Amino acid sequence: MTAPILRRLADLREMTARWRGQGQRVAVVPTMGALHAGHLSLVEVAKARADRVIVTIFVNPRQFDNADDLAKYPRTEQDDAAKLAPYAVDAIYAPDPDQVYPPGFATTVSVAGLTEGLCGAHRPGHFDGVTTVVAKLFAQTQADIACFGEKDFQQLAVVRRMARDLDIPVEIVGCPIVREGDGLALSSRNVRLSPAARAQAPVLYRALQQAAGAIGDGVPVAQALAAARDAVLAGGFASVDYIDLRAADSLVPLDVLDRPARLLAAAHLDGVRLIDNLGLAPA
Ligand code: PAF
Repeated sequence: MTAPILRRLADLREMTARWRGQGQRVAVVPTMGALHAGHLSLVEVAKARADRVIVTIFVNPRQFDNADDLAKYPRTEQDDAAKLAPYAVDAIYAPDPDQVYPPGFATTVSVAGLTEGLCGAHRPGHFDGVTTVVAKLFAQTQADIACFGEKDFQQLAVVRRMARDLDIPVEIVGCPIVREGDGLALSSRNVRLSPAARAQAPVLYRALQQAAGAIGDGVPVAQALAAARDAVLAGGFASVDYIDLRAADSLVPLDVLDRPARLLAAAHLDGVRLIDNLGLAPA
């Protein structure tokens, strides 16, 4: 059954007040639509952990640092609703823009430190846009649980810190990356790759795997990262924003694998910015 699509905050509030009155636990899965199996895996986790599930669909203009990227972002609401139908979610909240940013909206939620490197260094203002909209979605849904994918690993860390710092009573659940058979991490941006670029795209994941293997074998981190960058460029990517080893919790740069870590990458292929990451544990 297709879930009701709510456009107005008042309608969302009415629905969630009813659920809360019945003592039900509510989960939210925030998305910008163009849903794929990665999003649907978040919905499955949300359904397992809560009585009610809201999927939000809102292409948030404040988190785009590039007007062209915003214009090209796929908008596929009818398809998204059809993809969600088998999961029987309780509501799709696809707010009208003024429900999120009413006239005169003047507030920015900003997390320092964690947002400064990696994607934050290459996408000015991006994380302020993310934390502002996610704070709004938490306030609007008043969800008990929120599910985010680990593909946006820095985003997950930033949202966790925001919720902790602002005492927002929501449990943030990170969910594993879902990949295509050839290793490419699922992303709403993948549909913008030409067939030739789509065939090249798994190079990014393979380079991360090779770097992880090399670091595990004792190759110095800097050398393994440089080799990964060379492999990505040789594999057809136009440029690499970063390939870096970071502590999994604080995201501080590591030059030795001495704690749980994450190897993170962002690179450009065929005019599309792809990101990926994988976890590493010290021996
Ligand atoms: O990961 C996303 O799709 C977006 O950054 C999010 C969390 C829905 C906020 O707009």
